[in-house]
Amino acid sequence: MLLNRPFWVAIALCLSSNVEAACNHDNCLRAFIRSSAAASSFCATYTPGSSTPTRTTGLPRFVSACQDSPARISSACACLATPTPTTATSSPTTSVTAKATCAATQYWPGWENIKYAFVFGDSYSSTEFNETGVQPSPTNPLGNPTYPGFTSANGPNWVDFLTTKHNASLLLTYDIAWSGATMDSALVAPYIPTVSSIAEQVENLWFPNYASKPASAPWSSDDTLFAVFDGINDVGNSWAQGVPATTTLNAEIFNVYHGLVDELYYAGARNFAFLNVPPVDRAPLTSEKGPESQAEEKADILDWNTLLAGMAQDLKSMFPDINVFAVDASLLFTQVLDNPASNPITAGYLNTTGYCDAYANGTPTEDYFDPTCGIPVNQYFWLNNLHPTYPMQDVLAQGVAAQLEAGPNVC
Ligand SMILES: *[C@@H]1O[C@H](CO)[C@@H](O)[C@H](O)[C@H]1NC(C)=O
Ligand SMILES: *[C@@H]1O[C@H](CO)[C@@H](O)[C@H](O)[C@H]1NC(C)=O
Ligand SMILES: *[C@@H]1O[C@H](CO)[C@@H](O)[C@H](O)[C@H]1NC(C)=O
Repeated sequence: MLLNRPFWVAIALCLSSNVEAACNHDNCLRAFIRSSAAASSFCATYTPGSSTPTRTTGLPRFVSACQDSPARISSACACLATPTPTTATSSPTTSVTAKATCAATQYWPGWENIKYAFVFGDSYSSTEFNETGVQPSPTNPLGNPTYPGFTSANGPNWVDFLTTKHNASLLLTYDIAWSGATMDSALVAPYIPTVSSIAEQVENLWFPNYASKPASAPWSSDDTLFAVFDGINDVGNSWAQGVPATTTLNAEIFNVYHGLVDELYYAGARNFAFLNVPPVDRAPLTSEKGPESQAEEKADILDWNTLLAGMAQDLKSMFPDINVFAVDASLLFTQVLDNPASNPITAGYLNTTGYCDAYANGTPTEDYFDPTCGIPVNQYFWLNNLHPTYPMQDVLAQGVAAQLEAGPNVC
């Protein structure tokens, strides 16, 4: 693996410049990139003249984005220059927060000079921002809805805190995240079908609205952060299938994840923060089911986080000019759950295991008190059976900012 890396780096550099010069990154090519492993085998046997595709011949799913156009399929095959992601062979990265061991590339201007952030994720990250509504601006850095938006934290979430509290510059943040999101709804179904997966956030929300660097978001490769925080629902909706099944599933999910980052790269993204999955096996949703369930979900989370660390490494090998910030959300949550006083922000937590029904759907104020709950809402770690209250989100944002301040940590 290590010995092979310079070879792959050379290929990737050579191919990526060809791709940028000649290829139209339309939905067809993007679908091919997302499914690059399957698409490579398809392309190896595809000859435009002899097997003109029709909708009825059971072509792979990614081909449907090409509207049965042989020209577009041929072009996508010609442009499919992304090396097939190598499987993660690196050992699991355990603690990576706020350790900078890598030289930043020319695209990282320092956290204090980042101007724009695009965030993809689930309910831990969503503010219910609408891409067609009021856009972020200096006096309103998260745009719509009114700060802090509709979060799952009974107060600001980490995206809010990162933008307005742990920021080191005026940061305009476009929060594309959707509650309930999984990486790809076709691989792990979200709780309702209308949820935009990470794939849909990237392809249907980010690309049409922001890839062109519009006046509402005049970002550049060297002043913008792309953050992805996903996995809680992928794991949450699938761990009960058992480890053999989730091991296979996770590998499929990470093929999509890698492909989506590739798409962002080809659109100019260079600075990436990846947040791993926190110990949601300790959330009431699973702890109420008992220790066996917790152990099973924990194993799935570990597999996810190992694959994420491997993907981050693989991306950096493939695209040496990127900066990768691996944020250990798992560690940040574990530290607070084990000892809330380990961080002054969460020192007020008195209950880290349960939640109170009277608070579960949100409360009129952030420190609301209902006598049936014993203590105010913000002294509970868990607002409901899956979501932490805002102090934990504040600590998460602090951890993200600390890593961004320290520099990239995947070399
Ligand atoms: C975003 O706003 C537009 C225009 O008001 C609306 O049509 C659309 O449904 C909104 N999107 C969501 C997800 O609410
Ligand atoms: C952080 O963001 C807030 C809200 O946009 C802004 O008022 C503040 O000046 C920013 N902090 C720095 C250090 O630029
Ligand atoms: C945490 O809160 C729940 C819900 O109010 C309660 O049942 C449980 O006993 C509390 N746990 C502790 C350790 O106080």
